[in-house]
Amino acid sequence: MKEFRSEQWESWFDLLAVNDYVVIDGFLSQKLLANIKSYFEELDSSNLFKKAAIGNSNEEQIINEIRGDYIHWLGRGDNDTTQDLYVVLDELKSMINRYCYLSLKDFEFHFAHYPKGSFYKRHLDQFAERNNRLISVVIYLNKDWREGDGGELKIYPKDQPEKSIAPIENRLIMFKSDSLYHEVLVSNKSRRSVTGWMLHKPSTIAFITE
Ligand code: OGA
Ligand code: NI
Repeated sequence: MKEFRSEQWESWFDLLAVNDYVVIDGFLSQKLLANIKSYFEELDSSNLFKKAAIGNSNEEQIINEIRGDYIHWLGRGDNDTTQDLYVVLDELKSMINRYCYLSLKDFEFHFAHYPKGSFYKRHLDQFAERNNRLISVVIYLNKDWREGDGGELKIYPKDQPEKSIAPIENRLIMFKSDSLYHEVLVSNKSRRSVTGWMLHKPSTIAFITE
């Protein structure tokens, strides 16, 4: 696992506190990144991704107008790669608790695949029926992402100009789930990420339908 100094964590969480988001490049070790990418491909080629839903709507047409990604939920014990990833996420959760004075209890993560032409309209990750999500975390897996490939994460920080963040490989973005509006712009090619949420209370993953 990659080790970061406490000053480094502190400065990232200062940014998160002030701006509601922070971008960290080169977050994962090269080895874990490579393993995650190959597990992603394995699941994708076995058709183990499902169309993501929204809130309580299952109507395909409505969903398609809002989001076009396909997801696969992860579990700690799925294999060695998810185990290694969860060690890193455990560490991230402890650091958030330490430096942001939170008491996160759990997290939930999935792989997300946005096929060419897909997007996710502007939204918040926390809303009335789903107030367990405190911090959203996305790690991108897209090598050689170029200007013009689209698929940027557009964020709308309060009292600041909006900003587009390219989904480049091994870039992590963390943001406050209840306050940062964001959207995924139309992606002109296949766009991959590990996406998840740090939770206030233990996960009820068995009941999640999206
Ligand atoms: C989400 C989301 C952002 C991204 O899944 O809720 O907003 O950049 N993802 O993939
Ligand atoms: Ni979101």
